[in-house]
Amino acid sequence: MIEPHGGRLVDQVDTNYSPSENNTEVMLDKMALSDLELIATGAYSPLSGFMGEKDYQTVVKTMRLDNGTPWSIPITLPVDSETASRIRIRDSVNLVYEGIVYGVMIVEDIFTPDKEVEAANVYQTTDIEHPGVKKLFQRPNIYLGGPIKLIKIPPEKAFPAYHLEPIQTREKITELGWKTVVGFQTRNPVHRAHEYIQKTALENVDGLLLHPLVGETKAGDIPSDLRMECYQILLENYYPSNRVFLAVFPAAMRYAGPREAVFHALVRKNYGCTHFIVGRDHAGVGDYYGTYDAQKIFQQFSKEELGITILCFENSFYCRKCEGMGTSKTCPHGSEHHIALSGTKVRQMLREGKMPPKQFSRPEVAGKLIEGMKETVIEMGRHS
Ligand code: ADX
Repeated sequence: MIEPHGGRLVDQVDTNYSPSENNTEVMLDKMALSDLELIATGAYSPLSGFMGEKDYQTVVKTMRLDNGTPWSIPITLPVDSETASRIRIRDSVNLVYEGIVYGVMIVEDIFTPDKEVEAANVYQTTDIEHPGVKKLFQRPNIYLGGPIKLIKIPPEKAFPAYHLEPIQTREKITELGWKTVVGFQTRNPVHRAHEYIQKTALENVDGLLLHPLVGETKAGDIPSDLRMECYQILLENYYPSNRVFLAVFPAAMRYAGPREAVFHALVRKNYGCTHFIVGRDHAGVGDYYGTYDAQKIFQQFSKEELGITILCFENSFYCRKCEGMGTSKTCPHGSEHHIALSGTKVRQMLREGKMPPKQFSRPEVAGKLIEGMKETVIEMGRHS
């Protein structure tokens, strides 16, 4: 079994712990709640808390923790100045979401970040239209750092059976007898190009961990429960059951492109993956990143310090002339023969109840999406 990042799987879950009611309360947003859970369960090993200033600075500037370990995304706990003014260094604080205490933290650091620098380094833009940058600036302006404990497991809305912590995922991998496992991150409905790169990778490893991100995503992305239903349908019909397993990744999406690809890979190592897929424009949004920037960024790390092997894939498509899936590495035909649809175009088709071509999306999956998107529209109608 592959070693966790930093050598040890962090376990900071203590559901028997009773926090003092006198502790200052710190309100978490959805992203902070999911980060709390992911730190505590070891998904973010070696992090054992929200970042203090030293780690934050080196991560922002050099993609490394203060001790040199690669880490590409700041994991921070933002609070407003009023809350910060009530907290002293070494205080225990209660971490609260919607009136419930989910965790405690010993405050070791209180600092004011330079968010312009954070945005420019992590997101490569300070454009407020970028969903990750927008979120960064919407969150409060002072960061608390220090070790945490998770004292209550956040409730799972959908698919509790697929909610496996890193330790459980590792046990499952051992049980399946897999020596090599490729992880696949996704936030979009599954299509044939995803399937193609997953199966191409699977030709060379023992198993595939399909690990859709189900934490907070931006408005306009397809809801995670609908994406999960699509995966269930696809697995039933097109995947060998003994070579694949599906579990959720409860993190929030940052849309940080290359930096997030590194983060996604390191975290999947903690879940027990030996390999990780990075295709075109991984974790990208709009035109902020070059098509293959999320692959090139890995050149800044040595194989040894990454520990996980990155499997890079070119833009994949269905070619009418080849009558099969391929990339520019394997298909000699011009783009006029390729079926390429943008996410926006597909969403529009689905909303209008139109099936995308079967070379783009499996009909069973497209049918589910059309059905699900009708329900989403009705739901939205009800609330508006
Ligand atoms: S992501 O934000 O999670 O990266 P998405 O779910 O679309 O979005 O992608 C999941 C993975 O599949 C990423 O590694 C991405 O680079 C890859 N990918 C998506 N579409 C293609 C494609 N047509 N060709 C090659 N790789 C792709």
